[in-house]
Amino acid sequence: MQPTDREVESAADALRAGEVVAFPTETVYGLGAAARNVEAVQRVFALKRRPRSHPLIVHLADASELPRWARQITSPAQQLAARFWPGPLTLVLLRAEGVPDAVTGGQDTVALRVPSHPVARRLLAAFGDGIAAPSANRYGHVSPTRAQHVRDEFGSALRWLLDGGDCDVGLESTIVDCSGPVPRLLRPGSITLTQLRAVVPQVEAGAAVESPRVPGSDAAHYAPRTPLAVIADEALEDTVSRASAAGRRCAVLARRAARRTLQEMTWINAGADVARFGHDLYAHLRELDRAGAACILVQAPPPGDDWEAVRDRLRRASDPVAQSELTDALRPGVLP
Ligand code: TXA
Ligand code: MG
Repeated sequence: MQPTDREVESAADALRAGEVVAFPTETVYGLGAAARNVEAVQRVFALKRRPRSHPLIVHLADASELPRWARQITSPAQQLAARFWPGPLTLVLLRAEGVPDAVTGGQDTVALRVPSHPVARRLLAAFGDGIAAPSANRYGHVSPTRAQHVRDEFGSALRWLLDGGDCDVGLESTIVDCSGPVPRLLRPGSITLTQLRAVVPQVEAGAAVESPRVPGSDAAHYAPRTPLAVIADEALEDTVSRASAAGRRCAVLARRAARRTLQEMTWINAGADVARFGHDLYAHLRELDRAGAACILVQAPPPGDDWEAVRDRLRRASDPVAQSELTDALRPGVLP
């Protein structure tokens, strides 16, 4: 079910003509434009309804293209690229001359990534230059991990979509800022801090005050439309019962089956394997969003570095009001 060479060529022509092309990567689907074409890049912002100041990732066919986009390729950047590219890693570097402000949000840095998905690689090879692409969803919404998700987001407003099936990873790339003296993990992903430190021991967790902005860290990012709350394992069933007694039906995403029969409830058991859980997370959130429930409850992920990306996306997806209401609901006396 992969696109034909002719479809990939046509999509590359569309990029050259300044059009927007959605394409699969191993993480999530991207909404691509020729990175050096300012008008094309602006079309991506318009389609996504994303604020113009939020920078995009430039996708490259090969690490050998780095010097055309970054003016200083630090030694941590070289080591991380050598180890993890092609793959789900984005490096933030000082931008080279001529990299448009439209891509970098006017910052002096640029985010770069060499994806491993065969369709992304074929498109990059056919196009022959960098493709700027955010995740192919409306601003603030859940990222798409299947072609159908992209159709659901944009419908007929999007003319070009390469269908490459399900994305393997399902969570957005790990972002490491290598533009300063100390490399910093800006966004956790399937490549963990432990894996990064095995290559570059000095990688720090989290943004410094002077770090480049990561708009993905805005509140209400990666969020389904139904209010979502993260609930401790042992409180799941009780929270569902109490919410339902108060007239609020819940949809649940857990790593296990329900321990008792609960009425009128959608319960997804996504299993305990972190790669599988991450792969399915956004598809599950979309499914639960359609369940027509008053709230989505997600079982709190376990501790540990390998669950950090899942924990991060759930923190961002959770609704502060639902989170405090449902947690309060557990205190005796608040609800019947
Ligand atoms: O896996 C991914 O990274 C996917 C696929 C399509 O490659 N893309 C993606 O793009 O998640 P987007 O736009 O949804 O998220 C890109 C993140 C944003 O949080 C943005 O702020 C950050 O990358 N970013 C881009 N340029 C940056 C820069 N110069 N400095 C710091 N952060 C930057
Ligand atoms: Mg995004």
